[in-house]
Amino acid sequence: PTAPLVLGIESSCDETGFGIVRGTELLANAVASSMEEHVRFGGVIPEIAARAHLEEFTPTLQQALDTAGVTLDDLDAIAVTSGPGLAGALMVGVAGAKALALATGKPLYGINHLVAHVGVGVLDGVRATEPPAGSGTRPAGVVLSPEPTGLPEHLGALLVSGGHTEILRVDRLTSDVTLLGSTIDDAAGEAYDKVARLLGAGYPGGPVIDRLAQQGDPKAFRFPRGLSAPKFVGTAEEPGRHRHDWSFSGLKTAVARCVEQFEAAGVPDTEIPTADIAASFQEAVADVITAKAVRACSEHGITHLMLGGGVAANSRLRSLLAERCEAAGIGLTVPPVRLCTDNGAMVAALGAQLVADGIAPSGLDFAADPGQPV
Ligand code: KG4
Ligand code: ZN
Repeated sequence: PTAPLVLGIESSCDETGFGIVRGTELLANAVASSMEEHVRFGGVIPEIAARAHLEEFTPTLQQALDTAGVTLDDLDAIAVTSGPGLAGALMVGVAGAKALALATGKPLYGINHLVAHVGVGVLDGVRATEPPAGSGTRPAGVVLSPEPTGLPEHLGALLVSGGHTEILRVDRLTSDVTLLGSTIDDAAGEAYDKVARLLGAGYPGGPVIDRLAQQGDPKAFRFPRGLSAPKFVGTAEEPGRHRHDWSFSGLKTAVARCVEQFEAAGVPDTEIPTADIAASFQEAVADVITAKAVRACSEHGITHLMLGGGVAANSRLRSLLAERCEAAGIGLTVPPVRLCTDNGAMVAALGAQLVADGIAPSGLDFAADPGQPV
């Protein structure tokens, strides 16, 4: 039997994504983003995102079908992100997917967005493509233990974006994924957005801070690494309550205090060392994310880690993670950025795995679930 042809639909945040795969082969990955419409508000406005999904639904679907050279009739299944994410945004994707499934009679799968981020790892070539930026001469996507197809055993996933910061253990992609740790307040990308606003650097915060940080000294200021105190971390024998969790709210406050101190001392805005602050902030984020992720991997028998989410584009996070995974003997996959940010290909990839594993479709009764657990 030929591999299943699956359409994946993503609408959990500001990206309208339609991906098409045949098994593990990526045929199309069409993405429309409403980010430009959110810039003037300095954050994603749920209502605007939902309306944009509705506008982009049909043209982006058509683009994916054209690129793949297939029709809706050719599909074996449809998969759609059912959560977690913004309620109104998710509903557009879920309602659209149900309509397509009803009209075509194709089986429909509701998919967990976080697990879908891991799903891109099965796609052909993903684990041997782009070099992670900032990792010097390191050759390719699979940084430390090249295996061109399929997911490695004892896999972990580190997901960092504007909406989530999680570490997962993936025992079986289609049925057995465990949350090991997550942020207890802001997502990493949110922290970037808030700090960028404090520094008057623009939005979205990730890319602007990353760029600004290149001109700064990461050691200029020592900002806090949240939930790293012994009482939160504990020991391997007696783990603290937040051993594998993150918190970025204290870091954000520390950056605000730092800026305030310069202002209180009468330093003009133009002379505040924003590049040093940005670099020191970025160092704190990369340090605490990678230290905790690698610790979680080591303690849970994880020997290969996959990175996902928009913050995976961050230069310092990539280089420090590569360094620390190598030191800990953990393989690392960093997919190309267009497959790390939200997209439909990851939903399609996971959908195809569900079909291949003989897992029953979700039917047409499931709801969008903004707080859907893994
Ligand atoms: O996964 P994504 O496209 O959407 C979700 O939030 O789910 O991630 C977007 C996030 C934004 O918060 C953006 O600021 C961040 O990824 N980002 C970065 C970088 N590029 C994008 N954060 C840090 N450094 C970057 N270079
Ligand atoms: Zn995402």
